[in-house]
Amino acid sequence: MKYKKLGFIGGGHMARSIISGLVKDNYPCELIYVSDPSQNKLNALQQQFSIQVQTDNQAVAEQAEVLVFAIKPQQIMDVLNELSTIVQQRQPLVISIAAGINTAAIQHYLGKQLPIVRCMPNTPALMGAGITGLFATELVISSHKALAESIMRAVGVTLWVKNEADIDTITAISGSGPAYFFYIFEALEAAGVQLGFSQADARLLVLQTALGAAQLAMLSDNDVAQLRAQVTSPGGTTEQALAWLQSRNVDTILQEAVFVAKKRAEELSQLLD
Ligand SMILES: NC(=O)c1ccc[n+]([C@@H]2O[C@H](COP(=O)([O-])OP(=O)(O)OC[C@H]3O[C@@H](n4cnc5c(N)ncnc54)[C@H](OP(=O)(O)O)[C@@H]3O)[C@@H](O)[C@H]2O)c1
Repeated sequence: MKYKKLGFIGGGHMARSIISGLVKDNYPCELIYVSDPSQNKLNALQQQFSIQVQTDNQAVAEQAEVLVFAIKPQQIMDVLNELSTIVQQRQPLVISIAAGINTAAIQHYLGKQLPIVRCMPNTPALMGAGITGLFATELVISSHKALAESIMRAVGVTLWVKNEADIDTITAISGSGPAYFFYIFEALEAAGVQLGFSQADARLLVLQTALGAAQLAMLSDNDVAQLRAQVTSPGGTTEQALAWLQSRNVDTILQEAVFVAKKRAEELSQLLD
C-alpha cells in the first residue's frame, strides 16, 4: 500500500485506538496528523506515537490526503462547515466515524461532491477487537476503499455495505451489540452468585465461556445452530436450559430488540440530519 497523509479531526478514544493500531502495523507516524482542542490530549498522543499534533483543524486539513472525522455527532456539522473551503481545495478522501451522520449531510456541509466513506465501528475497537461497517459514496474509487479499509482494520474486522440504510442495521447489531452481550453476562453472573459463587469467580466463568464460545464459533466449520446441537445432549442440562429459553421465546425477544434498535438508529439519524 502507498502510504497517504492521514489527518484526524478529533483526538479522542476512537482516534487514539485507530492510530495505535496503525502505528502497530508500521504506518509511518510522520504521516499521521491530529487536531483536538485539548493540548493535553495532543501531547499524550504525540509522546506515545510520535505523530504530528495541532489544535488547529485547518492546519491538519491542509496536510491531509485522507481526512478522518473522529468527533462526536453533535460537533461534526460545525467542523464540516469550518473546513469546507480547504476540503474543496484539497479534495481528500473523507472518512467519518460519527454515529448517525449520513453521507448526504456530510456532503451538504462540505459543499461540492467528494468521495466519502461512512464507518460504524463498535466499542471493542478501543482494544483492536472491533467490527466496523463501511459505506462508500459513488465517487469512492477502489484505491480509496482499500485505504479506508486498511485504516479501519487497525481496530478490528471490516464489513462493506452497499446501501447506506444498512449502516443502521450494523448500528443495531454490532454497534449496540456489545451491550446486549454485557446484559446477558450480567444475568449469568448474577445466577452464579445466587448459586453460591463469589462475584469474581462467577465473572470469570461467564466471560471465559463467552470468549471460548465466540472463538469456537469463529474457528469452526459448523454454523452456530450445529454447534449448539453438538453441546445439547438428550436429557442433559443444556437441553433443559435451552427448552426453558425457547418456551419463553428468548430468540424472538432478542430479534425484536435489534429491530427496535434499528428503528431508533433511523430516528436519530433523521434528527441529526
Ligand atoms: N467510542 C466508541 O466506541 C464509538 C463507537 C462507534 C462510533 N463512535 C463514534 O466515533 C466518534 C468519536 O467517538 P470517541 O469515542 O472517540 O469520542 P471522544 O473520545 O469524545 O473524541 C472526540 C474528540 O473530539 C474532540 N473535539 C471536540 N470538538 C472538536 C473540534 N471542534 N475539533 C476537533 N476536535 C474536537 C473532543 O474534545 P473534547 O473532549 O474536549 O470535546 C474529543 O477529544 C463519535 O462520533 C462516535 O459516534 C464511537
